[in-house]
Amino acid sequence: MIKGKTAVIIGAQWGDEGKGKIVDVLSENFSIVARYAGGHNAGHTVIIGGKKFILQLVPCGVLRDGCCSVIGNGVVLDPMAFLKEVGTLRDAGVKVDGNLFVSNRAHVILPYHRMIELAAENAPGRVKIGTTSRGIGPAYEDKMGRRGLRVADLLDLKLLRKHIENACREKNMIAHALFNSEPLDPEKMYHEYAAIAGKIAPFVRDTATFLHNALKRGESIVFEGAQGTMLDIDHGTYPFVTSSSATSGGAVIGTGVAPTAITSVIGVTKAYCTRVGEGPFPSEIHDKQGEELRARGNEYGAVTGRPRRCGWLDLPLLRYSAAINGVSWWVVTKLDVLDELDEVPVCVGYKIDGKATDEPPAQGCGYDSIECIYRKLPGWRTSTEGITEISKLPARAKEYLKFLEDETGAQVGMVSTGPGREQTMLVDSFNAEMESLTGRKTRLTATP
Ligand code: GDP
Ligand code: IMO
Ligand code: MG
Repeated sequence: MIKGKTAVIIGAQWGDEGKGKIVDVLSENFSIVARYAGGHNAGHTVIIGGKKFILQLVPCGVLRDGCCSVIGNGVVLDPMAFLKEVGTLRDAGVKVDGNLFVSNRAHVILPYHRMIELAAENAPGRVKIGTTSRGIGPAYEDKMGRRGLRVADLLDLKLLRKHIENACREKNMIAHALFNSEPLDPEKMYHEYAAIAGKIAPFVRDTATFLHNALKRGESIVFEGAQGTMLDIDHGTYPFVTSSSATSGGAVIGTGVAPTAITSVIGVTKAYCTRVGEGPFPSEIHDKQGEELRARGNEYGAVTGRPRRCGWLDLPLLRYSAAINGVSWWVVTKLDVLDELDEVPVCVGYKIDGKATDEPPAQGCGYDSIECIYRKLPGWRTSTEGITEISKLPARAKEYLKFLEDETGAQVGMVSTGPGREQTMLVDSFNAEMESLTGRKTRLTATP
């Protein structure tokens, strides 16, 4: 019998919606934070009392005393990146021993994944995705091709050696034939990975069983989404997507928790829109206003430092996202970035070949023919800095949020007007629901 309650926090757009900050705020209440998809392509920023952490693989729950963190089976783990991140956290005085666990079934990223990705991205005739070059896609390819190495196998040195020898033989041949790449040395690779296997071992568990047992005891879990709905391998703007299930369904597959154990889905959306990398972006701003939004929102990738493309809030996209994820609540972040605008354009619908539609095209090229229908809402031209209650937001900011609710059919539960913990406002009914999941109300304290 499952007694514990859960919430999934997903990115509703193309990633970087501020999931890290929101998971951090809400993790105060939950017993466990679990990542279910992606790898160190994610960059989740959390600012606590002025101190900045950018978490890539490690769930944000690690920053909360008494909270356990789980890297689920759906994540692809680069062991070197993981140890580096763990080291940085330890140096910053963050506890990572006995409270951070890695699934024995998570797949491992190895150097040939990065080699193949880099070569493929630059090869003539290939569609350039603008990936984070972390080897994410090729690692998931090996997982689905049933030739991947799992964390449990990394710890089994005999198997590790055999796996690396076989894989290198194959990958070196492919990479040479397709991209003329220099071969990787399997012997050197084996020694490097065998040397760190012992450092990974203390973190490794059957995390699905760990999560089941926690739910049986009545503990609460928050699932930390990575990337965003439009980067989901199935539901995003394919092929300009990542290689995993970023949507709420991924939480089930990527951790081994049953669908019936998901209590609530929280969709994080910026008050506007951004995207890093290539691919369709219907409401993208191509003029000076886009640059102004980038400057005000400091829209540069947390992992690669690349400038993020900026656009207006896209309501057809949010309606789609609400449907695909089953969003129960919206969290609207970066409202402050719009504070100075006279008017705020919002994409309220799409037209394809002159016909109104809410259906995102299945083909990348279909996006080229989208014409966004905009409505300009009046700006509030007042700073939202320091406001701690939604009722005290400028009237026009409240109208903006109400418009988003009316047009998407889901309620706004939380609003963020700055990167810090305390720059967050909760709607009473949302806080009451979080209390019903976890037995505790959310406080917005600036200390860990
Ligand atoms: P994630 O990948 O979804 O966790 O988001 P990122 O951390 O990649 O990017 C979000 C960026 O916006 C980070 O730099 C955050 O510190 C910052 N941020 C989050 N919420 C707010 C907000 O309400 N206002 C402003 N100005 N910045 C925010
Ligand atoms: P968080 O969790 C924004 C994008 C890349 C590229 C595409 C595929 O911080 O929101 P990949 O390396 O995953 O194969 O790249 O996906 N991308 C992200 N964009 N935020 C992310 O994560 C992203 N993770 C991947 O820029 O366009
Ligand atoms: Mg990010």
